[in-house]
Amino acid sequence: MRAVDRIDELRELVRGWRAAGERVGFVPTMGSLHEGHLSLLELARQRSQRVIVSIFVNPLQFGPGEDFERYPRMPEEDSRLLQVHRCDVLFNPSVAHMYPEGGVSATVVSVRPLSQILCGAVRPGHFDGVATVVARLFGIVQPDVAVFGEKDYQQLAVIRRMTEDLALPVEVIGAPTVRASDGLAMSSRNRYLAAAEREIAPKLYAMLQMLARRLMEGQREYAVLEEEGTRVLRDAGFAPDYVSIRDARTLEPPGAQCSEAVVLAAARLGRARLIDNLRVVLPND
Ligand code: PAF
Repeated sequence: MRAVDRIDELRELVRGWRAAGERVGFVPTMGSLHEGHLSLLELARQRSQRVIVSIFVNPLQFGPGEDFERYPRMPEEDSRLLQVHRCDVLFNPSVAHMYPEGGVSATVVSVRPLSQILCGAVRPGHFDGVATVVARLFGIVQPDVAVFGEKDYQQLAVIRRMTEDLALPVEVIGAPTVRASDGLAMSSRNRYLAAAEREIAPKLYAMLQMLARRLMEGQREYAVLEEEGTRVLRDAGFAPDYVSIRDARTLEPPGAQCSEAVVLAAARLGRARLIDNLRVVLPND
């Protein structure tokens, strides 16, 4: 595996691969890699001859008072894992190289209104930061295919929409959420959980499963279900940001014709903010 921190060097490599007729797969990450990230890498590998993983903790997507400074950074362990999992290139640019004008971008990519609901309502500007860095990374890497985790369901929807609206020639693929044996979705931020909180954390997924069961049984009083989910989380010790049932395709409240819903939740537990979701095919009434 080659580690590259300069855009021109990366472009040179990609040019050579393309000239040899090789497809390029891309997995953007912020590092602190876990099994979830590695499953994205495997998927990219299945779809392309070459795989580039970027590690860049993107300051644009963190709000004031959020965890940019303390976001877990473990470059040696990440590099070792990527090597073992046959990554071709690790792209790990500095903030100064990605945003040479003092860590900011004059151009901001904003996917509205998708970026302003759910997590976007709680973290204003977050998805603009995500869309801006992913657009820039797509421009740098110019991949054929890029893989993102479905755990960040709204992020995936924002990136798909941005790619479509800007007619970027990249196939965006969503990869299933990887979970611990007790159901907790893998996340770099799980490292923030104290031992007692780690015991409680799987109750988030259990709550999503409970609401999914209700939906499959034919319940359609979404607001009542959302309230119940919120109460369950509070009783377990979470501080919920939201529990929401949406159309899985549009992320809008489900209409009468909705055939697949997604139950999404975000909640704070100690120093961690956990998000998760579960898709549900709605039976015909
Ligand atoms: O999901 C992440 O790790 C980040 O939001 C991403 C997509 C790498 C953009 O910084």
